[in-house]
Amino acid sequence: IRDTPDAVGRYSGDYVAARIQAHFASSDRRFVLGCPTGSTPLATYRRLVQLYDEGRLSFRNVVTFNMDEYVGLPRDHPQSYHSFMWRHFFSHIDIQPCNVHILDGTAPDLVAECEAYERAIAEAGGIDLFLAGAGSDGHVAFNEPGSSLASRTRIKTLARDTIAANSRFFDDDPAQVPRMALTVGVQTVLDAREVVVLVVGQHKAEALRRCIEDGVSHMNTVSCVQLHPNPMVVSDEDAASEL
Ligand code: GLP
Repeated sequence: IRDTPDAVGRYSGDYVAARIQAHFASSDRRFVLGCPTGSTPLATYRRLVQLYDEGRLSFRNVVTFNMDEYVGLPRDHPQSYHSFMWRHFFSHIDIQPCNVHILDGTAPDLVAECEAYERAIAEAGGIDLFLAGAGSDGHVAFNEPGSSLASRTRIKTLARDTIAANSRFFDDDPAQVPRMALTVGVQTVLDAREVVVLVVGQHKAEALRRCIEDGVSHMNTVSCVQLHPNPMVVSDEDAASEL
């Protein structure tokens, strides 16, 4: 638990950087990082960019897999997660574009797109560290309440709460928010060697309490971290206020 969202970003950014550096000290395999979108991880990405700018970290041998993407938004749409990731992170570091993986929500065959994504993760050697956020309804990625804890990458219909929460990026108009998304599954997240969940803000306090203090539930998919052998939750004081 850190004082502020900025301190959460700094701590988690330093932590991810340390994991990448430790990995390359003992392995020549590429490091595979799972990436979330949303406002929560922005401070983490800022810290990682800062470490890169200071010459303390390189992403040349880092491979990324994003958690999710809206169905139907072209990659160059300003609110696609593809645009988001390049705007806030990838265009500021030395990552090789061929090492960036983001689901394509405009693929002609969405089922095949999801299956190919799971294969690509396996071919990369699995995800070393999955960074994640949490929705205020307790979802991880776009694994909305009711998602199977055994789920893998697939198409999901977004919950009404998520559409309302994300309408702030679409002129505050829920009608403009895509109704469906492609998302990694709960099991895809759990397969990572390490999972780091970021939760900030008073509006996430109840979600964090349920994640940690209630049982594991498919109605609250971020609670899956309780099943993981190597999880960490980084939160600010506000999000921790109901613990
Ligand atoms: C979306 C994303 C999630 C993210 C959540 C919370 O639903 N699919 O991966 O965790 O938003 O976003 P924020 O961090 O902006 O609260």
